[in-house]
Amino acid sequence: MTQHVHVTTAERVMTIRLDRPDKKNAITIEMYAALGAALEAAAGDAGVRAVVLGGARDCFTSGNDLGDFVRAAQGGGDTGPALGFLHAIAAFDKPLVASVAGVAIGIGTTLLLHCDLVYAAPSARFRAPFVDLALVPEAGSSILLPRLVGERRAAQLLLLGETIDAPTARDWGLINGVVDDPDAAAAGAAAKLAACAPGALRATKALTRRATRDAVALAMKVEGEVFAERLRSPEAMEAFQAFLNRRAPDFSRF
Ligand code: COA
Repeated sequence: MTQHVHVTTAERVMTIRLDRPDKKNAITIEMYAALGAALEAAAGDAGVRAVVLGGARDCFTSGNDLGDFVRAAQGGGDTGPALGFLHAIAAFDKPLVASVAGVAIGIGTTLLLHCDLVYAAPSARFRAPFVDLALVPEAGSSILLPRLVGERRAAQLLLLGETIDAPTARDWGLINGVVDDPDAAAAGAAAKLAACAPGALRATKALTRRATRDAVALAMKVEGEVFAERLRSPEAMEAFQAFLNRRAPDFSRF
């Protein structure tokens, strides 16, 4: 159990909210476990027709907790909950709507590729700094991101680690809209979906994902293997130590 993930259900909509403001909603092992459990519960509950995923008013998430990355790199920690969450979100068969404000970094951006609708505040910033951390993309993003935004733009995000703002994310097709109140927009969309025929929604979602389902599963498997290798690399340790010590990484010796 963790106090950093809040799950509430009302009017057939489950809302899952990240709440770890002092660490910019960085996601810990315990938080991944809670996120995965919430999605499993939503999938198995006929009373839940749609799910909203959100963060704080000024921060969606700064991505995976970098302290946990260090522990995992040193052979400690448990990567099971993160993988469990990724599989749960990739397999989730009901409508999933995201509300983003402030930073959406790393998995904060890649998890959006598994959401059906994404609304963002003007403050939203999207970034996938895997290479900056000497890592590789995860969550199926190595194929989902180029497919969604195009290979050139995916290279800006995945190779250069560029940050894009909300209007750019909208223009690139990463999100549905830039709105002053993304929580209200997400709740409104979820309420509308919750009133729809649930079987038709599930079937439609399955049909729209049919062409990529197997490719995403394979990508996640291969990404996971390379990611685990990269996590243990001296390059990655240099990147993590640099962040934790508030300095720029130095990759010149590799
Ligand atoms: N993991 C662990 N702790 C994190 C974190 C993360 N991903 N992101 C932020 N934090 C912590 C900081 O260490 C700091 O903790 P402290 O107050 O105990 O020193 C606190 O959250 C606030 O972060 P800070 O960097 O001071 O805030 P900022 O507004 O200057 O910058 C970010 C915010 C999110 C831009 C910056 O923290 C950042 O780049 N974080 C890392 C993002 C990242 O690489 N994520 C992994 C992606 S795979």
